[in-house]
Amino acid sequence: MVEVSYAVQTQVSRADGERLWPVYDEVFGDQPDAGAWLEQTWDRHARRDSFRLGLASIGGRPVAFGWGYLGERGQWWTDRISETLAQPAVDAWVGAHFEIVSLGVVPAVRRHGVGRRLLRRIQDAAPSDRLLLQTTDDEDDPARRLYESEGWGVLGPGASDGTVVMGWRRADAPERRGSRTRG
Ligand SMILES: CC(C)(COP(=O)(O)OP(=O)(O)OC[C@H]1O[C@@H](n2cnc3c(N)ncnc32)[C@H](O)[C@@H]1OP(=O)(O)O)[C@@H](O)C(=O)NCCC(=O)NCCS
Repeated sequence: MVEVSYAVQTQVSRADGERLWPVYDEVFGDQPDAGAWLEQTWDRHARRDSFRLGLASIGGRPVAFGWGYLGERGQWWTDRISETLAQPAVDAWVGAHFEIVSLGVVPAVRRHGVGRRLLRRIQDAAPSDRLLLQTTDDEDDPARRLYESEGWGVLGPGASDGTVVMGWRRADAPERRGSRTRG
């Protein structure tokens, strides 16, 4: 395959979102239009603590992306999974975790290792020992296979039907003790 370059940005602008939109739309096609996605998703996420955008590009054109930020109580997804996950998992994983919100590779370059390399870049750049994401509960889905092969494990049900929360811990990270005494 032609040469793919990888980069992680810590600062992004509205213009970065505008450049990313057609790639996002090609991969997911789940938003009505660019304006809605930029306002309701991009601008909000880009402002969050420790936002990271990973991009894979060919000849300067993005062909894969992934972004995330530090998740905290008070954010919708973090609060929601604090209810769906069992308490020990919440205590061990949730809060100041790095949340990978989205990861996608355009169809034309899939199955060449781009998704795996980009995921590793984002993991390396994430400023937390604990990473979380939500994905499908279909174990045969390509994304599930990718995450599992990179050491991610299922922690419990996700925030919506048909989804699970998966977690990944840095190899040398200390175990976080639950903050509650059980029993
Ligand atoms: C999931 C996705 C990011 C994988 O990107 P990719 O660049 O094709 O993945 P890679 O080539 O790096 O493959 C890594 C591993 O993923 C798994 N995988 C990827 N595509 C697969 C497929 N079609 N069927 C089965 N397993 C697959 C394999 O385990 C693969 O390892 P292997 O090649 O050694 O067998 C890509 O398919 C995608 O963008 N899908 C649509 C968007 C999406 O579902 N994103 C995740 C949302 S949580």
